[in-house]
Amino acid sequence: MSVRNLIDLNQLTLEELDDIVDMACRISRHPSHYSSACRDKLMATLFYEPSTRTQMSFQSAMLRLGGKIIGFDNPGATSVAKGESLKDTVTVLSGYTDILTIRHPVEGAAMAASLYSSVPVVNAGDGGHLHPTQTLTDVVTLRNVAHRTDNLVIGMCGDLANGRTVHSLCKCMARYGGNSFVFISTQALAMPDYIKDYVTACGCRYSEVRTIEEAIPYLDVLYMTRIQRERFANEEEYEAQKGVYVLDGKKMSLGKPDLCVLHPLPRVDEISYEVDDDPRAYYFKQTLYGMYGRMALIIRLISEHESRQPDKPQVDSGFVCRNPKCITQIETYLPPMSNDTPKGKVCAYCEHHSH
Ligand code: NCD
Repeated sequence: MSVRNLIDLNQLTLEELDDIVDMACRISRHPSHYSSACRDKLMATLFYEPSTRTQMSFQSAMLRLGGKIIGFDNPGATSVAKGESLKDTVTVLSGYTDILTIRHPVEGAAMAASLYSSVPVVNAGDGGHLHPTQTLTDVVTLRNVAHRTDNLVIGMCGDLANGRTVHSLCKCMARYGGNSFVFISTQALAMPDYIKDYVTACGCRYSEVRTIEEAIPYLDVLYMTRIQRERFANEEEYEAQKGVYVLDGKKMSLGKPDLCVLHPLPRVDEISYEVDDDPRAYYFKQTLYGMYGRMALIIRLISEHESRQPDKPQVDSGFVCRNPKCITQIETYLPPMSNDTPKGKVCAYCEHHSH
């Protein structure tokens, strides 16, 4: 693979991604063949934010590969509570281990961690920004249940503004030929412009609608998401949005026979329990594909990292990120870094425009 860390799935070429997906499919057929693939290797899970599936599936993946795990999911019980910086925690833990996975509530935190780690870093979710291994999960699932990753009409519903899973998924699926998107949300929860611009730049079409009913008859995939309560500025803003979208049996009856319903989970109230028994509901199977995807990713990153040079930070000393949710606002020692896009410079950590 051309990369040392997995911060954004788009760092991989489509060939590299498909290679990992192929490997995940092979592992799912013969998991026992891989039971010592990471023997004597140690993974640290640095979870600064709550998680069930992502944390446990990374841990299960490493243990099933014969490796070992250390980590925390309660930063309050670590030196973080004493004010230790991300840089210091990562520098130390990367010295103990062979791979780090990090989940953090602040955008760009995984990218920041990768600057100070001597081993590969995997972004397990950075605030409302990206969640590449959830997307890997989704792609492995689509390969297995929809039998393709191109020429799909993909509906995404719910909190498209704050949902990192849909941001990552959109950026990834826009690279496969012939996919188009239907964004189902209220105005307040609309997909960010930078994602819509990316989709357009890839030559894909998208439309924006307000209800599930008007979109569902045309969809091959319906990706439901939770309203991200923890990312709202206050409780009133959340209360105004919660419960707007509920997928139930009646709405499912409008969908195609081969519709594929996905959800990264956890579900709150956006999918009625009656839908669980519909054969088109794949969200529980999806969690299992996630573990196989992570097994494949861990094998590739660990086995190839010796040959990869650390990414050299492209410091842009004049660049100022104005996103209040960016890691550079909190960990102020981080070097300013930017990337060029057709619409101007964006912060290399959180992808926000400088203006
Ligand atoms: C998602 C996340 O953490 O972004 N969950 C997950 O990783 N499976 C989705 C969510 O929390 O709503």
